[in-house]
Amino acid sequence: MKNIIIANWKMNPATNKEAKKLFSETNKKAKAKNTEVVVCPPFAYLGLLKGKNLGAQNVCFEGKGAFTGEVSALMLKDLGVSFVIVGHSERRKYFNETNLQMNGKIKNSMEAGLKPILCIGETKQEFEAHLKPDVLETQITEALKDITKEQVKKIVIAYEPVWAIGTGENCSVDETMTSIVFIRKIISELYNREIADNMQIIYGGSVKSFNSADYIKHAGANGLLVGGASLDVEEFIAIVKSAE
Ligand code: PGA
Repeated sequence: MKNIIIANWKMNPATNKEAKKLFSETNKKAKAKNTEVVVCPPFAYLGLLKGKNLGAQNVCFEGKGAFTGEVSALMLKDLGVSFVIVGHSERRKYFNETNLQMNGKIKNSMEAGLKPILCIGETKQEFEAHLKPDVLETQITEALKDITKEQVKKIVIAYEPVWAIGTGENCSVDETMTSIVFIRKIISELYNREIADNMQIIYGGSVKSFNSADYIKHAGANGLLVGGASLDVEEFIAIVKSAE
């Protein structure tokens, strides 16, 4: 399995011009043999950027209709998008998105031929209350309801502890490894051992070039979801190289 490094630009940069520059520089320099590189810009730029590594940061949980302000999976597919982030903690926190909605987003994405990147992770309070396993289990089980064995093989799961996102307080290698093993156990219970072993599980949360290799080499992550550091081309390239 190739490692996957995903750039999540969030609500950046501010203009078309900057987005085009960042995208083309990232693609030019992030040439990697053993690593798949995916870039997720804001919706507004997706139609301007071309590449098979294009991802969206969100998608509607319904396929079409009266959902003002939303974007459907088919629209994304039509724009040349291949991946979509689902359930990012910022969506859960600021837009009150639920696991049931994640389930709809995943189903619609898969029907349209997009590859979902399902984000899960506990908050600081949940971590301190030792609720991490319960939270991860609920998030996975509810988001994957009625997703078949064949479908689940195509999903990427991103373990992103909420307290590690954008804080500089990245999760330790041991803690990440424990979470990844736990996620495989849940997948094994829901599906089977083989699917769990082959599932692409990545880490996200304050990844920088100085800590990125540790997650891949020592925590068993099959890739990384990179936020802030993906806006700095040199830093992002160093992260991609560290995964090679
Ligand atoms: P960060 O964001 O790398 O800035 O912590 C990660 C993410 O939100 O996926």
